[in-house]
Amino acid sequence: MLKTAICDLFGIEYPIIQGGMAHVATAELVSAVSNAGGLGIIGTGRAEPDWVREQIRLTRQWTNKPFGVNILLISPFAEQIIEVVLEEKVSVVTTGAGNPGVYIPRFKQAGVKVMPVVASVALAVRLERAGVDAIVAEGMESGGEVGETTTMALVPQVVDSVQIPVVAAGGIGDGRGLAAALALGAQGVQVGTRFVCSNECTAHPRYKEKLLKARDRSTVVTGQSTGYPLRCLQNRLTRQFSELEKAGASKEELDLLGRGRVYAGLIEGNLEEGSLLSGQIAGLINEIKPVKSIIEEMVAEAETVIAQLKDLQTGA
Ligand SMILES: Cc1cc2nc3c(=O)[nH]c(=O)nc-3n(C[C@H](O)[C@H](O)[C@H](O)COP(=O)(O)O)c2cc1C
Repeated sequence: MLKTAICDLFGIEYPIIQGGMAHVATAELVSAVSNAGGLGIIGTGRAEPDWVREQIRLTRQWTNKPFGVNILLISPFAEQIIEVVLEEKVSVVTTGAGNPGVYIPRFKQAGVKVMPVVASVALAVRLERAGVDAIVAEGMESGGEVGETTTMALVPQVVDSVQIPVVAAGGIGDGRGLAAALALGAQGVQVGTRFVCSNECTAHPRYKEKLLKARDRSTVVTGQSTGYPLRCLQNRLTRQFSELEKAGASKEELDLLGRGRVYAGLIEGNLEEGSLLSGQIAGLINEIKPVKSIIEEMVAEAETVIAQLKDLQTGA
């Protein structure tokens, strides 16, 4: 059985966390992941606080297992969403797009477990000192906002630099990825793109189909010059964005072009004019499956891989 410190920390069966994903990690996906023994995380993106409260309450109706909320720190509603999370007594919070340092004392006082997503050793070390419970080390293979270091290089360096449990994210889509993350010293994995391609995820079917057709080099990172680089499937919008960036467009111009595009891609299924957030692992995903199958197959495959590696050592 794959039991790790992360399972004990969050009271979950398997060391698999579903990344909080703006627009698509709604109560449907989150409750399915938690019911299947992982940890579901509601993605709040730039959503309004009332929507977040509703999603928390719906998730509670559909599962009695632990789940969390992801707070995108650049959201104009971040402060209000923190209030909602505290009022609704959510037990786990993850954060994206920034340094949650100033909020940590409030979460700790309320007994909320905090697990920020980081892309560097320096931020991991600073946040451990600030009192967080665990760290997600996210490599640049991942879907959505990305840093500059790969999962393979980042995870062991973060593991060696902090005492708290580390969760690996970015590029993990099956049991081989889970086993590899554990080999790097992680206590679990955070998975995004693979869970978008589940029956329970409310993302638009056209976007899911496009993810299934993706290959290893189908994604591209745009927005480096805006300070908010996003990994997406290549399409007309990413080409337009890249051309404008190369031509030296201002941050305001690029922000204007990007406005509303994630919703258009993920929820309206606009394949050419929307942002189709995706990790590089999309090329590995060939089937839309129920969440329970994704999790159970991932765990079973990881156990097989780990056993095979042991055989390799004994020459069996
Ligand atoms: C569609 C999509 C939306 C995402 N939105 C967020 C978000 O709002 N906040 C956040 O911290 N991470 C977000 N992420 C990152 C995921 O939570 C997760 O860390 C990442 O997808 C892991 O890499 P993978 O896609 O290779 O599995 C998003 C990822 C995707 C694919």
